[in-house]
This record gives sequence, C-alpha cells and structure tokens, in this order.
Amino acid sequence: MIIRQRPELNENDVTPKASYLNRRQLIQAAAGVSLVGMAPAISAQAENVPGWLSEQIRTASSGLEDTSQGITDWDDATQYNNFYEFGTGKSDPARNSGGFNPHPWEIEVDGLCANPGTLSLEDMLNSRQLEERIYRLRCVEAWSMVIPWTGIELAKLLQQFEPTSDAKYVAFQTVYRPSEMRGQRSFFSFIDYPYVEGLRMDEAMHPLSFMAVGMYGEALPNQNGAPIRLVTPWKYGFKWIKSIDKITFTDEEPPTTWNLSAPREYGFYANVNPEVHHPRWSQATERRIGPNGNIERIPTEMFNGYDEVASLYQGMDLSRFF
Ligand code: MTE
Repeated sequence: MIIRQRPELNENDVTPKASYLNRRQLIQAAAGVSLVGMAPAISAQAENVPGWLSEQIRTASSGLEDTSQGITDWDDATQYNNFYEFGTGKSDPARNSGGFNPHPWEIEVDGLCANPGTLSLEDMLNSRQLEERIYRLRCVEAWSMVIPWTGIELAKLLQQFEPTSDAKYVAFQTVYRPSEMRGQRSFFSFIDYPYVEGLRMDEAMHPLSFMAVGMYGEALPNQNGAPIRLVTPWKYGFKWIKSIDKITFTDEEPPTTWNLSAPREYGFYANVNPEVHHPRWSQATERRIGPNGNIERIPTEMFNGYDEVASLYQGMDLSRFF
C-alpha cells in the first residue's frame, strides 16, 4: 500500500457527535435536491439507495457510542480511501466509483452451514433493527479515523445461515465487476481480484465484529464499500473487506488478498499491534485524521484499544501470527 503524507497540523479540535447528526438533519432537510457538503457523485448515489435501506438506517438504534475521541469529518472518511478496485490513489475511489451500482444486491452464502443460499441484501437484513457504532479505523499504513457506522453485529447476520460445528473460519469476497471497477481491469495491479478476506469463526462471532451498510447516518457511499462491508475495529483496515457478495463457511484458513500479495508484510490475523512492525514502517504510532481534517500523531494501542478481544489470542505468539 502506498502512503501519501498529508500536511501535519498540531491543532487538536474535537467535534462532538452532535455536529455530524446536525449535518444529517441538513442533508435530510435538503431532501436529496442539494445535499449539503456532499460531492455531486455522492448525491447521485444517494438517490439510488432503496427506500427500505434508508429507512432501516434512519431508524437505527445507538449501540457502542464511544465519543471520547473526535469523529473524523465525512469529507475525509469519504475522500481519503483505500479501494483498489477503483484505483490505488487515496482520492481515486471517490473519483472513480460513481458508475458502480450496488442496488439491487445479492449475496451468495455457501460452505459448512445448514442454511446456504443466495439472498438479496433486503432479505438478508430482513427488517432487522440496525445499530450505530462509533469505531476507530486503523490502517496498516499508520493513519486512522473515527467513524460512526450503521449495520448489524456480524454474529447475528451469520447465525441465520446456521454454520455447522465444522465451520472454523468464514471467508468473504468482494464483487467482481471489471466493467464498473477499473482497478479490476488493470494489467499492472498489485493484487489479484476478487479481493478476499477471512476471519476465524470465534473472531467473526465476537460481539465487536460488525457488518456495515451505512456511515454517518447515510447508506455507505460506493467508495466506502457499498452496499455492505466488514468492520472489525481491532484489526487493520485491510481486513475490512468492501462490497461483499459472497460468504463461505470453511474448515481451513481462507486465503486473504494482501497476504497472497506479500505474505511477509501482511498476515492473516492483522491485529493492530504497536510492537509488531511492518517491514517498511513502524506501527508504534499513527496519524489520526480527526475533526476538521486536523492531523495528530498518537500512540497506537494494542488491538486498537479494544482489549476485550485479547482472550481470543491467548497463548498465541502474535509476532508470528501477525
Ligand atoms: N476492500 C476491497 N474490496 N478492496 C480494497 O482495496 N482496502 C482495504 C479495506 N477494504 C480494500 C478493501 C483497506 S487497505 C482499508 S485501510 C480499508 O478498506 C479502507 O476503508 P475506507 O476507504 O472506508 O476508509
């Protein structure tokens, strides 16, 4: 992954959650005509979001709301992205994903489960109560953000497929649509497509694991992984696979895209760990892209500060299983 440094600023200005909620009201008041603060491509995307999804996101309950750290601005979270299917530059996904159409959407579920099948996103969420969670996102490139996600606990989503006791892992796959995703057409790609990721079953079933369909009270923009993406806050962002259209329960550790591309640099587990460094950069600190675009250098915490997952890795040498 290529890092481009943004200018470092010293000021640390914290924007309370109320400010993005306020922004959401402004957006709703604009009734889809002129969406305040949104790039034109995003307002066009918002018009394609089906009513049932907007309604489920609008009526989401408040879940884990850690507002102790200021929330990253919408503009940074939606214009500074990694989504190689739309290009390798940070601004490429926002610029190049306008022609991607994530509605309607189907997800195929197969492998070691009693209830496999291909479901529409609507059937999969099936009028469920969605939840909003504010989670920190730590990229392996040593930048981080704080983002309010809307979605469903991954365990609740997976349980409906009744994984069998033989299922030790769950694998995820990003949609393959070279006609809409220019990165998938590139002859000079760093990675193979479709993008694939996976979790151990106990990681997937941990209450922190989440499947997001929205952020900042809106449906996910294309560049952030519309219509559905993984959110595992104690793991580096490359595990947070976007635009998922296949889920497989398996008894073997599934291949993962960055591990296939550079096995010595990217492991299967990808737990945030300030003591295990990437060959090309230290993981001890991170550049927090905070409110108002302010950037601050802060220490990185083990498991990104989500200590409740530590028991999942008891007895494992995390420098070996990185
Ligand atoms: N998923 C797919 N399909 N393709 C990608 O290139 N990039 C990953 C992850 N999910 C990626 C992906 C990386 S490296 C990161 S850091 C996060 O998405 C970034 O998510 P964001 O753009 O919403 O901040």
